[in-house]
Amino acid sequence: VSEATQAPPAQANRQFLLAERPQGVPTADTFTLTSGAVPEPRESEVVVKTLYLSLDPAMRMWMNEGRSYIEPVAVGEVMRAIGLGQVTGSRHPGLAEGDYVTGLLGAQQFATLPGDQLNKIDPELAPLPVHLSALGMTGMSAYFGLLDVGQPNEGETVVVSAAAGAVGSVAGQIAKIKGCRVIGIAGGPHKCRFVTDELGFDAAIDYKSENVAERLQELCPERVDVYFDNVGGEVLDAVLANLAGGARVVISGAISQYNSAQPKGPANYMALAVDRARMQGFIVTDYVPRFGEAVRDISAWIADGRLRSDEQIVEGFDNFPAALLKLFDGQNRGKLILEVAKA
Ligand SMILES: NC(=O)c1ccc[n+]([C@@H]2O[C@H](COP(=O)([O-])OP(=O)(O)OC[C@H]3O[C@@H](n4cnc5c(N)ncnc54)[C@H](OP(=O)(O)O)[C@@H]3O)[C@@H](O)[C@H]2O)c1
Repeated sequence: VSEATQAPPAQANRQFLLAERPQGVPTADTFTLTSGAVPEPRESEVVVKTLYLSLDPAMRMWMNEGRSYIEPVAVGEVMRAIGLGQVTGSRHPGLAEGDYVTGLLGAQQFATLPGDQLNKIDPELAPLPVHLSALGMTGMSAYFGLLDVGQPNEGETVVVSAAAGAVGSVAGQIAKIKGCRVIGIAGGPHKCRFVTDELGFDAAIDYKSENVAERLQELCPERVDVYFDNVGGEVLDAVLANLAGGARVVISGAISQYNSAQPKGPANYMALAVDRARMQGFIVTDYVPRFGEAVRDISAWIADGRLRSDEQIVEGFDNFPAALLKLFDGQNRGKLILEVAKA
């Protein structure tokens, strides 16, 4: 065999495909790793080399069949993933080789897709991973979920769950910037110390070793005005039992239920009637037209040191399946990101 025939294709594209719909926590059988050629861009398309992939709890929901806010990933399809990459070929007038973009690149080393589906970013504004973190969907979720849905007022008490995680850490810091008293709920003493000592929350509750409802009674004698819920389950019930009159419960997510075939709803929902409170969900992509507003505020807060964007970066494309699981056993702190290639 000649050397020429042994050489790999100029741009081999390795991809993780959804191999089967997981029951419970994804396993080694959930994804297949394949390799193919990078498709040439057609008119108005671009080729993007993936540098970073955002690892998101929502990816677990995208693997399920059934009605949701977005179509499920089909079995055999490249796993859907938000990513940040660099344009390596363009037939789109608005994007040139070398530009940095974010979008639904998928769990693959190269993505060929319409330029209109990508968002060009300014690499001077912040280090690249921050564009998937506080300046990406994570920050947008925290900003609009808290401010638009939660509507906190200065002096109110805000409680945030998964407080040391990507969305929670930003939501709590924004609540502090808005003059609220902020209590974080997180798993383990390290994460609790992180949210108080490094992010400036007023207090933290370790839901793994403390009784959340009792600790809330102690820490919030005037009860809870805004609850930014990332986890659902028992923690949601404990906070519902401590709502103040007119409270707002923001349903950002319910990660404690994502691997369950029969997610459990809140038992204490009558607190909404007793406390004249409301519970409202949101999907961050509904706010796309207003993202500029959030990017402006968040980048200013980062620049003046009032907001910290925290990322945990796992290296190596092949580690995609294992890295994703870190979200579900609490191994991540801040925004979990996979580095696919060096920038
Ligand atoms: N609505 C939207 O548009 C939108 C957009 C983005 C994200 N979200 C939601 O926001 C939430 C947080 O997402 P993220 O990307 O910021 O992830 P993340 O918080 O960085 O990571 C997930 C964290 O959840 C906690 N967790 C995992 N299993 C749990 C369980 N059984 N009970 C309680 N906590 C558990 C873990 O922290 P501990 O160590 O503290 O347990 C883990 O670190 C998710 O629910 C996600 O779906 C919603």
